[in-house]
Amino acid sequence: MAVRKIIRMGHPTLRQVARPLTSEEIHSEALVRLVDDMIDTLHDYGGIGLAAPQINEPVRLAIIEIDGGPSRYGEIPSLPLTVFINPEVQILNPEPAGYWEGCLSVPGMRGFVERPQHVRVNALDQQGAPLTLELSGFLATVLQHEFDHLDGKLYIDHIKDTSLLAFDEEFQRYMVTSGEAE
Ligand code: NI
Repeated sequence: MAVRKIIRMGHPTLRQVARPLTSEEIHSEALVRLVDDMIDTLHDYGGIGLAAPQINEPVRLAIIEIDGGPSRYGEIPSLPLTVFINPEVQILNPEPAGYWEGCLSVPGMRGFVERPQHVRVNALDQQGAPLTLELSGFLATVLQHEFDHLDGKLYIDHIKDTSLLAFDEEFQRYMVTSGEAE
């Protein structure tokens, strides 16, 4: 297990479409190590989600772990550590909901992004078993943010109003109004 370096905006891997993992790879020791490294890295950097391309591994794998409760994103629901392999997202409600997003590959910044508010994901779990989750609100946003990384996209690509992109310090100072960061 090891903490890996998270690559930042400007690194070409973050703009590549990642490739699916084969069933042979899914049942390999190498994948167990990669997932362990991603968990260590996520915990070390203090994020809520990490996609494999962010540690320069261009494969369709992401993890999400949200403790819930008050956070820098406001009051948020929890999601236990979940591993998503080769995820496919289906939009159940295209009506957008907006949240302030941040990204470990775009450190020190926040931006307001609107995304479909209710989605279903079909993926494989770490054992290669099918996994289906339906998520709405903030969790739907986190899911779409992480899976965007698998398609070479960053949250800043979705910002419609660039006046709603800020450094963390200015965000805290001028843009958090009610403690709810939405
Ligand atoms: Ni990100």
